[in-house]
Formats: sequence, C-alpha cells, structure tokens
Amino acid sequence: MSTYSKGLEGVVAAETRMSFIDGEKGVLEYVGIAIDDLARNSNFEETVFLLWNTRLPKKSELEAFRGDLRSRYDLPPSAIDALRHIPKSAQPMHVLRTMVSSLAFLDAHPNANDLPSARDKSLTILARTPTIIAAFDRIRRGLNIVPPRKDLSFSANFLYMLNGEVPTPTMERAFDVCMILHADHGLNNSTFTARVVISTLSDVYSALTAAVGSLRGPLHGGANEEVMEMLGEIPSLDAVEPYVMGKLAKKERIMGFGHRVYKAIDPRATFLKTLAKQLAADTGNQDLYEKSTKIEEIMAREVAAKGIYPNVDFYSATTYHSIGLKLDLFTPMFAMSRIAGWAGHIIEQLDGNRLFRPKAEYVGPHNEKYVPIAER
Ligand code: ACO
Repeated sequence: MSTYSKGLEGVVAAETRMSFIDGEKGVLEYVGIAIDDLARNSNFEETVFLLWNTRLPKKSELEAFRGDLRSRYDLPPSAIDALRHIPKSAQPMHVLRTMVSSLAFLDAHPNANDLPSARDKSLTILARTPTIIAAFDRIRRGLNIVPPRKDLSFSANFLYMLNGEVPTPTMERAFDVCMILHADHGLNNSTFTARVVISTLSDVYSALTAAVGSLRGPLHGGANEEVMEMLGEIPSLDAVEPYVMGKLAKKERIMGFGHRVYKAIDPRATFLKTLAKQLAADTGNQDLYEKSTKIEEIMAREVAAKGIYPNVDFYSATTYHSIGLKLDLFTPMFAMSRIAGWAGHIIEQLDGNRLFRPKAEYVGPHNEKYVPIAER
C-alpha cells in the first residue's frame, strides 16, 4: 500500500529514543525530560551525554565525558591552514559544511561505522565545530586565532575563542541554554538528511556534511538569520503593523513563524522569549524585543487560527544579537548545537540500520515515441 504525502507530512520514518514532540500540546522532551526542566537545570555537555546515552550521567561519568569532549577542542594545523585559504567573503555555513567534510581527511579510518567509531568521530566533530566557526570568524576579521581553553565549557570556550575574552557567567549561561534548546528535535529535515545518508552505510562525515547543508535553508535553520534581517528592515515599533500586514496581504511568510509539527506554541520559543527579554534589557536591545513581541501579537490576531505561532528561530534572533553574535553566525550556532542531535540519530540509525528508499509517484506520460532530433 503506497500513499503519497507531500513533504512527507505525517509519515513516521524512524524510531528514536532521544526527543519526543507533541505538536498539538506544545511539548518537547529529551529522553522524557521536559525541555524547560533541562534548560533551567542542565547544561549543554550533560544534555549531549543524555541524548547519546539516553540517560543522565552520574557525576563521575559527566566529568569523564566533559573531559573527553574538551580534550578534542583543538584543530590540527592543516585544518587551520585550510581555513586560512578560504575566501574571507565566504558565508560561515558554507565554511562549516566544507570543513566538517574535510575533517575526514584527518581521520585514518573515516569510513568506520561500528558504534564505538561513530561515537568517537561524533565527539571529535562536535568538539571541533566551535573552533572552526570562531577561527574562521577571526581570520575574516583580520584577527589572530584564539586557541581553545580546555578548562572552559563548550559554550564558554566558544565565546572565548570568538571574542578573545572569557564570557560573563550570565552570557555563558544564556548561550548554553540556547545550545540545550537547539540540540535535538525529532525527525526534522536536517536530522532526516543525516539518517538518510548514513543509512547507505556511507560515513559520519558525509552524513553530518549533508545535514549542515539542509539546516542552512531559510525554511529550516536559516530562518533565524532572516528573522534578524526582518527586524532590521522594520524602522520603528509603529512600522511593525503595516510591515506584517503588507507581507501577509502578499501571501509572503513571516520568518520565525509556523512549524510542520507544532500547531501550538513551540516550547523552545516560550523559553527563548524570556531569555531574549532579559538579554535585550541588559544589552540595550529592547527595541528588537519590542518589535518581536509586536509581530507576535499581530500574527496571533491574524494567523494563530491556522496553528501558526513563533518557532525556535523567532526569539533566538534577538537572543543571539544581544549575545553579540554577527548575523551570519546565527545559523552556525544552530548547527553547533544540532550536531549533537544529528550524531545521536546517526548512531541510532547505525544501530539497526535499514536503507531509506521511498518511492516516487510517476505522473508523466507513457507510450511516447522517441522523436529524432531533426524532426523535433
Ligand atoms: N507566515 C505566514 N503564513 C504562514 C507561515 C508563516 N511563517 N507559515 C505557514 N504559513 C501559512 C501558509 O501560507 C499556509 O497558508 P494557506 O493554507 O492559507 O495556504 C499554511 O500556513 C500552511 O503552510 P505550509 O507551507 O503548508 O506549512 P508547512 O508545514 O509546509 O511549513 C514551515 C512549515 C516551512 C516551517 C512554514 O511554516 C514556514 O515557511 N515558516 C517560515 C520559515 C521558518 O520560520 N522556518 C523555521 C522552522 S523551525 C526550524 O526549522 C528550526
């Protein structure tokens, strides 16, 4: 029995033990723990352990895992050299995609897909991703690369490598919460991409490279950059109403709204809204927060009946801007966190793999004759 579902809507294509979503009720859990609980009480390093082991670590296990992750922050000199040869005008998501792929050259057994090897590769790639992004950003700004500090957490180390200063505890925590909120989300497009690629028994590098490419799209993770551009295009609070109504009248989408799965508010957006409010107040970016809440109000009035609410990308724009990140680093931040989810899904897929191979419904003609080129 074959039924066609455009965009695979409603199709269950994999089993996972990592995240659960109830789109009607606006629930997201990682391994049964509410995202809100994790965002309040956990940290990104522990969340990665949770996703990859489907349980919380004991203290000694967390220390060992964290130590192992942090010991892999360094990029080999040849990778730094490669970064220096990339044009400074390149977009960070393109840089990240290429660099994740090129890490395979530095691996003596890049195609090893047994579970311990897949976990080992995933940990190394996760640890090196912040180093790649921060190093490229500093190279393009004409600054010296700041080597990683292994005494710092994943999040603090990234901000340190980017800015050359250890972040304040508030900034570190805010950024770490963003990393927790973006780490996994069921079978979203990029995660599905990763699972599809690894299901051919290709390799972890290929699967993660493809996932980075998928995430970049404006209908997926690229939306956070588009939200920021939109906020920049709206000159004042008074201009919000005509801007949003004008777009809706032209049947254009308001970025950061709508979701294939959530028909209620995305719980990550709720948490990020609170975070964005605090950070915007602390950093003098209230205008962005106020414009955002005004957009949310208008969208609630106009389209909430269709189940369109803010998604994770909407308030992450104000949050990342307030943390001081440049616009084109927003989607790489999403990727940096989601590598944890992609890798977890790759491991799940390898552990009981079956090749993904759906069918297409043929809607073209039959019994056509070949017409020689001179007669066409
Ligand atoms: N603004 C205005 N209207 C919207 C929006 C939006 N952001 N999103 C959906 N709609 C409308 C559509 O126009 C359509 O209306 P209609 O039935 O009157 O024609 C209806 O809602 C359903 O839209 P679909 O495109 O069928 O919904 P789908 O499930 O395919 O799309 C998607 C989900 C791609 C996320 C969509 O909501 C969208 O384009 N949002 C903007 C981009 C965005 O924020 N992406 C990030 C998603 S979260 C993430 O990936 C991390």
